[in-house]
Amino acid sequence: MQTRSIGGRQVGAIGLGGMPMSIEGRPDTARSIATIHAALDAGVTLIDTADAYHVGADEVGHNEELIATALRSAGSAADDVLVATKGGHLRPGDGSWTRNGDPAYLKQAAKASARRLGVDAIGLYQFHRPDPAVPYADSVGALADLLDDGVIQMAGISNADPDQIREANEVLGGRLVSVQNQFSPRFRSSLPELELCAELGIAFLPWSPLGGIALARSGELGADFAAFLDVAREREVSPFRVALAWELALAPVVVPIPGASRPESVTDSAAAAELVLSDDEIARLGAAGA
Ligand SMILES: NC(=O)c1ccc[n+]([C@@H]2O[C@H](COP(=O)([O-])OP(=O)(O)OC[C@H]3O[C@@H](n4cnc5c(N)ncnc54)[C@H](OP(=O)(O)O)[C@@H]3O)[C@@H](O)[C@H]2O)c1
Repeated sequence: MQTRSIGGRQVGAIGLGGMPMSIEGRPDTARSIATIHAALDAGVTLIDTADAYHVGADEVGHNEELIATALRSAGSAADDVLVATKGGHLRPGDGSWTRNGDPAYLKQAAKASARRLGVDAIGLYQFHRPDPAVPYADSVGALADLLDDGVIQMAGISNADPDQIREANEVLGGRLVSVQNQFSPRFRSSLPELELCAELGIAFLPWSPLGGIALARSGELGADFAAFLDVAREREVSPFRVALAWELALAPVVVPIPGASRPESVTDSAAAAELVLSDDEIARLGAAGA
């Protein structure tokens, strides 16, 4: 698979999002492990997770533990995998998502994530979502301390606007390596953040790059976007693959992290790294959401 850089580390241009394997509607463990192994077979070397990817309040880190188990059983095939986890979101067990950007909390959450992942230092740790109750610089300051203390190797942020991207990079002394925001054919409002990342040379990881679990599972990606269906038919590939190839074409810093809970999904998505769209196709797809 072609590779892209996150903080100087090369990863496959298409990653795997772990969320569908641990939240509501998740499959059994065997199918999840098979999905992660299929990702590795397809050349995926970036797996995105979070301590908050779970359902019950008593199973914090469900997805991190699942990924750690799958990577252990994959042996040397997992050697080059970068696991990117996140802290700052919590799930109290009633289906909601709450926030905690307190620096002391984030530091202990990162150490707990490292333990679950079975690593001395987390490859990439991302602050999940700004907490309005805590100054942003204080939350990101925790990541700077975690870097300095060797608890994490690289630092990223998620759900950030352009001002927050600049502020985080400043607080981190220029060590911000990634921004993870929602971006897909259907939800394009983070285009300014994508463009800023391209300008600064920071990796941009579109989350829900297929429009989100419910939409993608319904097969509806292309329903509002005839251009994606047309290109998919012409190329004889899935519209999901076209969507991911289009995102890759927007800037060399883009590394989509499509979620999956079936081996077939991740195998099909991974092949987007090899689908090179023409300038005409890219223009048609760009215009589809205008
Ligand atoms: N930072 C944040 O705040 C945030 C928020 C949301 C998500 N995320 C991250 O972003 C990742 C991706 O987002 P997402 O999982 O919400 O949504 P998504 O990637 O837009 O859609 C995921 C769904 O798409 C289906 N799918 C994937 N590839 C497919 C293909 N080639 N053909 C057919 N179906 C396909 C999968 O179905 P099956 O389940 O049937 O395989 C999966 O459940 C998450 O897993 C998570 O790691 C981050």
